[in-house]
Amino acid sequence: MIEAKQKVFRRFWHCVMPIARLEQGPQPFTLLGERLVLWLDDTGTPVAMADRCCHRTARLSRGWCEGALIVCGYHGWAYDRTGKCVRIPQQPDSAIPSGAKVPSYRCEARYGYAWVALEEPLLPIPHLPEAGAEGFRQVDQFYEPWNCSGIRFMENAFDFAHQSFVHSAMQGLRDKPVPPRGEIVDRDYGFDMNIVQPVRNPDSGKKHLKIDADETVRTVDLNWFMPFSRRMGITYPTGLRQSIYSVATPIDEGRCQVIQWSYRNDSEADVPAADIIAFDRAVVDEDRLILEAVDGDMPLDTRRRAEFHMDSDRPGLLMRRKLLELLARHGEVEVGGIGRAG
Ligand code: FES
Ligand SMILES: [Fe+2]
Repeated sequence: MIEAKQKVFRRFWHCVMPIARLEQGPQPFTLLGERLVLWLDDTGTPVAMADRCCHRTARLSRGWCEGALIVCGYHGWAYDRTGKCVRIPQQPDSAIPSGAKVPSYRCEARYGYAWVALEEPLLPIPHLPEAGAEGFRQVDQFYEPWNCSGIRFMENAFDFAHQSFVHSAMQGLRDKPVPPRGEIVDRDYGFDMNIVQPVRNPDSGKKHLKIDADETVRTVDLNWFMPFSRRMGITYPTGLRQSIYSVATPIDEGRCQVIQWSYRNDSEADVPAADIIAFDRAVVDEDRLILEAVDGDMPLDTRRRAEFHMDSDRPGLLMRRKLLELLARHGEVEVGGIGRAG
């Protein structure tokens, strides 16, 4: 499947950018192959529009904000949040042509990020129970483009068999390659999964978990929010909870924006955010090394037998089946054929 070519993904909310970045001015983001400009209006509400001025096609993201308007940096045409051109400085006394506008899209702020739906969304923005809950703090972790399709990233996020190999330097137990069998419950928004997982506890882990033992156990409850995000709620034997929210927003063919933040029921005085980020950075970089070198096209239709499977691939197989059903419900067929990883 090539995400940017499946129109139905235009009908989901996608997390695209930290609001803090927008406070610096208009920013470009390519979502499912669509070039967007994101900006904040005078009420601090994010706006998403096509990043293309209707005068001479300049990128609006190279312009600036002015009150409730965004101004093109080329000749100064100004647009409101609906995308309508409301000012042509060179012709202050002439009417603005009625069709002078650029497409604008649904855009909302949630969890400190701007979310965009290119068309009427099928599902709400995922609910994260720890967000704003008493005793939990939010730690913003990563915001970076990967040369990996969003769906490959998502499948990996529910693959507990790779830990012993990809993460053997961090959490994985190389001598225990058979992963615990998770319980999966099908949901309308994706699925839930529960798993109890023994993990290695390296020195860096001891620091950010405050657990001295060389091994520990994580009780994990996960949600797959169709199509490209995952919540992973981890409880440690000490009562420490870390809920990691990972997003792989598709940019275009074979590329996604990886966005991750966490909620923890401890404080900065207990464990500095920098230590939490450093530990998860090491883990995520191990994933990246592998994921940027797998084929971008993840075949949804397993009847093609393009890949072989094992029992621990059940979450990924359910993901594929549900996406295939989603495409069928919306009259689409799977578009494949992206090149093999180089
Ligand atoms: S290209 Fe934007 S004002 Fe001319
Ligand atoms: Fe991993």
